Amino acid sequence: MKIGFFGGAFDPIHEGHLSIIRGAVDAGLDLVIVIPSARAVFKRGHAISAAPYRYYMSLKGLKSLPEKYLKKTVLSDIEFRLSGISYTYNTVCELLDGNYLKEIIENFAGKKTAKKFSEATNSYYWLCGSDILESFDNWYKPAELLSKVSLMTAIRPGYEADTEDKRRKLEEKYNTTVYSFEIDGIEIASSSIKKNRKFDNLPAKVSEFIYTHNLYNEHNVLDEVKEETAAAFYEYAIDLFFVLTEKRMLHTLNVGIYAAQLALIHGCDADKALIAGILHDCAKDLPVKMQAQYANMYAGDVFNNEKLYHSPAGAYLALNKYHINDSEILDAIKYHTTGHGGMTLLESIVYLADKLEPSRTYSDLTEMRKAATSDIKKAMKMVSEEVRDKFISQNRDVHPLTLDMMREFT
Ligand SMILES: [Fe+2]
Ligand SMILES: [Fe+2]
Repeated sequence: MKIGFFGGAFDPIHEGHLSIIRGAVDAGLDLVIVIPSARAVFKRGHAISAAPYRYYMSLKGLKSLPEKYLKKTVLSDIEFRLSGISYTYNTVCELLDGNYLKEIIENFAGKKTAKKFSEATNSYYWLCGSDILESFDNWYKPAELLSKVSLMTAIRPGYEADTEDKRRKLEEKYNTTVYSFEIDGIEIASSSIKKNRKFDNLPAKVSEFIYTHNLYNEHNVLDEVKEETAAAFYEYAIDLFFVLTEKRMLHTLNVGIYAAQLALIHGCDADKALIAGILHDCAKDLPVKMQAQYANMYAGDVFNNEKLYHSPAGAYLALNKYHINDSEILDAIKYHTTGHGGMTLLESIVYLADKLEPSRTYSDLTEMRKAATSDIKKAMKMVSEEVRDKFISQNRDVHPLTLDMMREFT
């Protein structure tokens, strides 16, 4: 079985990436494993999107491949499972030495078929653009990497002669064969897509994803907060990827980013808003019994309702699992469902971000979002009225803490 690994940031995935997958399959690969990077070296001014955004966006992009290619393509979260910066060599070692690849092949081809492909008869390729030929020497452990996989480079029409020399040099230096295959299409770079904010030429589902989650803003808040805060945000995102559903994961990232944006506008602490935002629902997909237990340990029986447990339970996890000791952050998480009387600016911002983040569609939120950026109290009043109306229409009991909040604003 010929297996290609295709790694990258995929921020965003675009037609250039898809043409590499198509070309690799046409060149004879049986399976292409697409591997979004989890961790990258942080470059201020060029902060990349959190890994789960790029993973789920890639999933959308791959689905736009014609069936003949899609059925030979698998998206992998292998780099989310490793620690430290994502180096190709480490990823390949993990793939080949662990059970991970075996599982992928089994899921892909079925257990029976997978048995026929012994490790010895598989051959492995690292897919890349032809520009890699020039920089490959600077990769981490290049010789060791080439002892495990062969390079397979995508060449656009007219570039064969250009790359031939570089290819030969690498082959001689590392005593390896560098394979190449032709791809169609023009040269595209994710960086220029982001810079020019032109998303219309992306696969439709990818541009829809970018608009839905409001990615690639002109001002990326991850470039505005402290480096260690951005690093913590990225780490929490990877950790939460394994415990939250896709929808909740994306919501939680959106709340973090939106809360930090609001904090910057209103002179609040954006670092605290970012962390409170990303952790606010960290307990929500746990079994209810566990949520109740954590809620009780953190706040006694104040939050005595299934829908509310996850707020104090989230604060409990933020403190005990993520080691957040800041009481303002913990309170913003604890009160994000109920609110309470006399909320702080940070609590109000996280409360609003939870209700108004870009992917929320439960109501026309345009006016509330406008208010959130100009007048927090007005936004709190509007959201409180919405909450009050919802409780009345559903004939539900309102928690005393929420009553206190509504009394202030309605
Ligand atoms: Fe929540
Ligand atoms: Fe939420």
